[in-house]
Amino acid sequence: MLDELRQVEEEARSSLRVVQSGENLEIWRRRYLGKNGALTEMLRSVGDLPKDERPAFGRAANEAKRGLEEAFQRRADELERQDTERELRGGSVDVTLPGRPIGPGHLHITTQTLRQIYAIFADMGFQVYEAPEVETDELNFGLLNMPPDHPARDMWDTFWVEEGVVMRTHTSPGQIRAMREYCPEPIRVILPGKCYRYEQVSARSEHQFYQVEGLAVGHDIRMTDLIGTLTEFARRFYGGVGRLRMRGSYFPFTEPSIEADIECILCEGLGCRVCKNSGWLEIAGAGMVHPVVLENGGYDPTEWSGFAFGTGVERPAMLKHGIDDIRLFYGNDLRFLRQF
Ligand code: PHE
Repeated sequence: MLDELRQVEEEARSSLRVVQSGENLEIWRRRYLGKNGALTEMLRSVGDLPKDERPAFGRAANEAKRGLEEAFQRRADELERQDTERELRGGSVDVTLPGRPIGPGHLHITTQTLRQIYAIFADMGFQVYEAPEVETDELNFGLLNMPPDHPARDMWDTFWVEEGVVMRTHTSPGQIRAMREYCPEPIRVILPGKCYRYEQVSARSEHQFYQVEGLAVGHDIRMTDLIGTLTEFARRFYGGVGRLRMRGSYFPFTEPSIEADIECILCEGLGCRVCKNSGWLEIAGAGMVHPVVLENGGYDPTEWSGFAFGTGVERPAMLKHGIDDIRLFYGNDLRFLRQF
């Protein structure tokens, strides 16, 4: 019996050495170590031996089994290594192929638009002034001439962070911050940044969007300065064509207030889907800084005057590039972003 065991073990080891594939390795395993494998059978036959031979044979057979199991694992590892090497050398993976390039990114359409706006206003002497996105109720509303319970607060659907603290609904609170910092110097700044409104998200409205606020404070600043500034901006941003129109409007922090429209750049004023057949597109809310607001900023309204305006960023970009859904801006779809 022991001789037979040695013979089976020898045979198993030499046949394992020539196994070249995973498939054959499995056949080998079944033949020797499987449920009906030669070695398993031998172990099972221990019971047929005379009692005194059983322990020695059992021990030898178990050892042989363990030895073959180890040899099997070694061979399996070897085969796997060979496979990988073969693949790398000349098979399905060509290691000499250049890798897939990761190209440099580029500026987001919003950033590009903001920079165009900065450049235009920089030429007119406006500096960029940044203000926080989380504001107090007082700065977002109160100091802009909207005390608590003022009905004009309803013009802005607001996210409240906690009592007295809001996600700013517009960039206008930055006016107060800029005035308090610059007072008593004259001011010419633009205030770009994100604003938030508790809005139904749609193709035209996001709950997060950019605005650029403009503020000029000085002696003898007039409505004509405001109109001239907005006209120059529209002319340069949209490319020179079309007329500009000023409509009377209302904001609590400007007096008088206007809204500036340009002739629709898509239909040249004839009327289309984008301008809702009116021929005009709204580009900014604006007006002369309200005396109360000047005072809140530290300026004496009998000596100082100023104008302010607020314009969007995504909507002008949509017009310029023919984008029909504002949700695309922050949807992170690279197919959209790569077009700009
Ligand atoms: N803050 C106003 C808005 O968000 C726009 C505006 C800014 C109007 C400055 C007048 C002056 O609607």
